Amino acid sequence: MTSLVVLISGSGSNLRALLEATTRDDFPARIVAVGADNEASGLQHARAFDVPTFVVSPSDFDSRESWGQALLNEVQSFGADLVVCAGFMRILPANVVQALTPNLINMHPALLPLFPGAHAVRDALAAGATETGATVHVVDEGVDTGPVIRQVPLSIEPGETEEHLHERIKVLERELIVATVSEIAHNRINLKELARS
Ligand code: GAR
Repeated sequence: MTSLVVLISGSGSNLRALLEATTRDDFPARIVAVGADNEASGLQHARAFDVPTFVVSPSDFDSRESWGQALLNEVQSFGADLVVCAGFMRILPANVVQALTPNLINMHPALLPLFPGAHAVRDALAAGATETGATVHVVDEGVDTGPVIRQVPLSIEPGETEEHLHERIKVLERELIVATVSEIAHNRINLKELARS
């Protein structure tokens, strides 16, 4: 059984999908803790499933590096096999990435390498794209630059708002993150090999 720590910053709908998947007997992973960089509303999902939570807020630290080290200490205290950033909206410092990668994956609401960063849905609309999607990738030291694990495309509707499009992407993301974690846990995806390529 693969153990997961999930990191979030917001409403945690992808976390919720993972938590629900872990109640199925045939799902090969369990969430051992959920961490956040603020008192994110999504932490309530973890509490509803009796999963331990922790918050490590950058505002409590003098530097990104000391915040990152405290976050890493929390994550590592749970001894998880895989760390899943599911709507975690902070760039992890290099020491955190180096300690965890390639067993550190991120969900992103675009078809990377297109539209990296914190406003992927807005940026896709502003660029006049007719297609976007969702990506799960290994986290490296860049911003959304790590090797792509899985992607799903989605057509953009004419005149679609950012909010509407993001909600449609999130529907895809929830399936994608559950399926990808399952494949990793079944050793059908080799993160080490991916990270080397
Ligand atoms: C998701 O769309 C995720 O891809 C995105 O935040 C949302 C979180 O939704 N992450 C990023 O943009 C990272 N750059 P959720 O809190 O409902 O799971």
